[in-house]
Amino acid sequence: MTLLSPVWTALLYLASAVCFILALKGLNSPRTARQGNLVGAFGAVIAVVAVFLSVKLDNIPWILGSIAVGSAVAAPVARRVKMTQMPQLVALFNGVGGGAAALVALLELPHAGDGWVRLAVVFTLLVGAVSFAGSAITFAKLQELMTTRPVVFRGLPVLMALVLLAAVGTGAAVVLGGSGALAVVLLLLGLVAGVLLVLPVGGADVPIVISLLNAFTGLAVAASGLVLGNVLLVVAGTLVGASGTILTRAMAAAMGRSVAGILFGAFRGGSTAGSTAVSERPVRSSSAEDVAVLLGYAQRVIIVPGYGLAVAQGQHTAAELAQALEERGVDVDFAIHPVAGRMPGHMNVLLAEANVPYESLKEMAEINSEFKTADVALVVGANDVVNPAAKTTAGSPIYGMPILEVSEARQVVFLKRSMRPGFAGIENDLMYEPQTTLLFGDAKESLTKVLGAVKGL
Ligand code: TAP
Repeated sequence: MTLLSPVWTALLYLASAVCFILALKGLNSPRTARQGNLVGAFGAVIAVVAVFLSVKLDNIPWILGSIAVGSAVAAPVARRVKMTQMPQLVALFNGVGGGAAALVALLELPHAGDGWVRLAVVFTLLVGAVSFAGSAITFAKLQELMTTRPVVFRGLPVLMALVLLAAVGTGAAVVLGGSGALAVVLLLLGLVAGVLLVLPVGGADVPIVISLLNAFTGLAVAASGLVLGNVLLVVAGTLVGASGTILTRAMAAAMGRSVAGILFGAFRGGSTAGSTAVSERPVRSSSAEDVAVLLGYAQRVIIVPGYGLAVAQGQHTAAELAQALEERGVDVDFAIHPVAGRMPGHMNVLLAEANVPYESLKEMAEINSEFKTADVALVVGANDVVNPAAKTTAGSPIYGMPILEVSEARQVVFLKRSMRPGFAGIENDLMYEPQTTLLFGDAKESLTKVLGAVKGL
């Protein structure tokens, strides 16, 4: 006997699915993202409550205990994580989702009579295991527990092909009625495939692979919905699978790369990890007061935020500087590159946190034609996303990536601590150009000094 009738259960599942769809819609824009997140979380709560009330569950103390332990671990981690560590947190949560789907499928195999259901079990097992192991490696790479560079060794493609062949053979045997032991072998093969898939991916490509694995987890969860006969899992899994695929393609396009190139580029020697050598060429550096004069007497300033602004947590000071300049009659905009920082939408999130008006955040396609009308492009902790090598140097790790055209501005000012390169590990020739000035120091400290000097003009 359960508390909810099938009709009420279906209605609650429908409400939950609608919440998930509205959540995705909300995440479309920084203005509504927070609300979207809350709606999604609310949908998840409805789904969990509906399951408790509509299914005759065994082992309720174990289930409640697991929920309590999971929440006790995840809530403080999610609260404390730095914005710059978000991609690895997403990798961890995503991997756990894939692993959970695979374990559910393993446990459901004995109850799966129908051949189609056994096929869904095999799919969930394999894809869930790939997602779990792949996400664990991406976590280790981004957390720098291992090298962030591509790891390739002789025979890796052959080994990968053999593992995939073995997985297909074992999967077919399980579909045709093979034992639970074979399913465990399939799980292990999936884990090995996940590790081998992600090892050759390095540098800036790792977060894109997280998004791809996210899509894999979605598909595994959708298939586990078929195994369990649960429509909501099918809907939610499909939404995650589709949105993960779209995000993967969008990020790859923003970096000017193909998904195949990201996964298999290292085999051809085309990885994104460059060198970290620092050139000795002379540059023009100046003081905060000089930069303040440049900005304070300009008509149009475009601020280009990057990873360094996030590290320095200088977003509030950048917003204050923009405001101070606007009070002097300067026209100020922020130019947002889609892969500036270390996660999708990083700069939007950062600047929204500092209450920069959304109208002042201009996407790359919109702002690029406007740099030639700018007196100053103020590049705060950004490097790769303004590096002209992306257009001029074939063979460069970022070649083909669309960039913000800051070199078109009359003056370019970089705020950074040293001449060290950015994520891609390559020099930026723009720093040596005659129209460029560097103000060395932590972004927040430099912005604070410039702000003080602008106020004193
Ligand atoms: P980067 O090219 O990584 O450059 C960041 C710059 O900030 C560095 O040159 C660094 O120079 C400076 N910096 C670091 N800490 C600083 C601080 N406290 N104060 C002042 N400056 C500081 O950043 P970007 O231009 O934003 O480009 C992002 C890169 O990350 C791209 O290559 C992109 O492909 C990659 N990526 C993006 C994503 C997503 S989805 N956004 C994910 C992974 C990778 P100093 O050390 O000299 O200060």
